[in-house]
Amino acid sequence: MQILGFCPFGFEGNLVTVEVDIRRGIPGTEIVGLPDSSVREARERVRVAIKNSRFTYPSDRILVNLAPADLRKPGSAFDLPIAVAVLAASRQLEELGSEPTLVLGELLLDGTVRPVRGVLAAVTRGAHDGIRRFLVPQANICEARLGGNQGVVGVASLTELPRALKELAVTRSGLKAGGDTAFSDAPARFAHDFGDLRGQPLVKRALEISAVGGHSVMLFGPPGGGKTMSAWRLPSILPRLTHSEAVEVTQVHSLAGMLDTRTGLIAARPFRAPHHGASSEGIIGGGKTLLPGEISLAHRGVLFLDEAPEFDRVTLQALREPLERREVRIVRADRRYRYPANAQLVLATNLCPCGKLGSRDVECFCSNAELHRYWKKLGAALLDRIEIRVPVGIPESFALVTGKTETSAEVRARVQAAVDLASERYKAEPFGRNGELEAAAVHRYCGLTSEARRSFLAAVQKLKLSARAAEAVTKLARSIADLAGESAISSAHVLEAVQHRRAGESEEFWETLIRAM
Ligand SMILES: Nc1ncnc2c1ncn2[C@@H]1O[C@H](COP(=O)(O)OP(=O)(O)OP(=O)(O)O)[C@@H](O)[C@H]1O
Ligand SMILES: [Mg+2]
Repeated sequence: MQILGFCPFGFEGNLVTVEVDIRRGIPGTEIVGLPDSSVREARERVRVAIKNSRFTYPSDRILVNLAPADLRKPGSAFDLPIAVAVLAASRQLEELGSEPTLVLGELLLDGTVRPVRGVLAAVTRGAHDGIRRFLVPQANICEARLGGNQGVVGVASLTELPRALKELAVTRSGLKAGGDTAFSDAPARFAHDFGDLRGQPLVKRALEISAVGGHSVMLFGPPGGGKTMSAWRLPSILPRLTHSEAVEVTQVHSLAGMLDTRTGLIAARPFRAPHHGASSEGIIGGGKTLLPGEISLAHRGVLFLDEAPEFDRVTLQALREPLERREVRIVRADRRYRYPANAQLVLATNLCPCGKLGSRDVECFCSNAELHRYWKKLGAALLDRIEIRVPVGIPESFALVTGKTETSAEVRARVQAAVDLASERYKAEPFGRNGELEAAAVHRYCGLTSEARRSFLAAVQKLKLSARAAEAVTKLARSIADLAGESAISSAHVLEAVQHRRAGESEEFWETLIRAM
């Protein structure tokens, strides 16, 4: 008999072996391998829950070992595996059998099994490591089966253990085959629609391009221009998740303890809009409990930082590395942990601290020093990573009342067609969207026509684009060409890409831009 538990730190998590030794002696229980306070708590919970569930708690010396000992573990998730191991060692659970079993669950004193976080990660990790039997809290059963694993049984209380173990003995383990296609064709419903956004053709076009490649965006302009409004409409035009992407998204939310256990896979791309008061750990992840941060919760979706300069400078700068690597790495004394963080960053900001800069009718009195401080917080290094910069002026009043506006469904159809083209092109690659291309892949997949190459070189020289900016322009041009359904990138695609990228390249440009609004 081998009982395993699961430690939900990091995306993959770690399996923990639960061993129990019972021998004659002064009655007492010792648990090794857990931090002090958790040991005390787990020991008492398990003892009382077993007594209250028509089993006997052995009146001998009991030693519980959780290995590896040097791995940090949260106490409560080990209640059920410890209880099962104690009952099996004292020959009260003959149904258990000899095959390794991964057991998850927290106990209440009356023996009720409570749901825990990270169940999908646990089952995935277990299956990867060759485990074929899983006993999980009944409330987590939907989630546990999401990975397609068949050898999973739920248990609602300790008294049900013999029944659950018998069921486990006859369930067929193994994986159900599942293709990596978009798994839900039902049209998702969104609270906010692009149809509400009047005028602003440049803003809409920029967001459409960003949705194709997952390109990072900064929306800037005076108050009331519709920055917040347009950002909240971005999720409604994003492409569908594929099945394997949805599993990843669901796994991160489950590890954070944020999954609604009654629903299946998360079907829509996440949109996370944390408040600017959020801590660095809240955004990036980590902390004492090693939880994924907002950037990981936004994995495969959007991280929106409204009023971006109001965020803590340290937090903003800490975003740079995960944005580049598309994952968060946390180094702790015991080991290294990682969470995926392949999110599209969207920033919204005014142009100055008072917000009036760029308004047509009111004058801004912010000093140069104040302006400098304001922008310094975002920092050149972070701004350089923003691929699309969109000036959002106050819409003309006639635009607000006249004209036809496209709905999100219409825009999304175009975005999906472009994304389908890109995924076909990258089907043998580890990435799927244009924004994810690295330097070598940019050369391979972003072929320019000779005319486009000339326009590109001219733009790079004239605007003194940095290497990173030039790469961003090429990737944007790729998304623009995909939207047009064309395989080669033409001069028009490059020139449009330059327009979307260059805002913010130089002081001079800012001035013209502000004057132009
Ligand atoms: N293009 C538009 N079409 C329709 N309504 C708009 C548009 N732009 C702005 N509005 C209206 O103006 C309100 C304010 O817009 P929003 O909050 O998005 O501005 P903002 O640019 O985020 O301003 P701030 O800089 O103050 O945060 C919206 O709630 C909406 O009612
Ligand atoms: Mg706003």
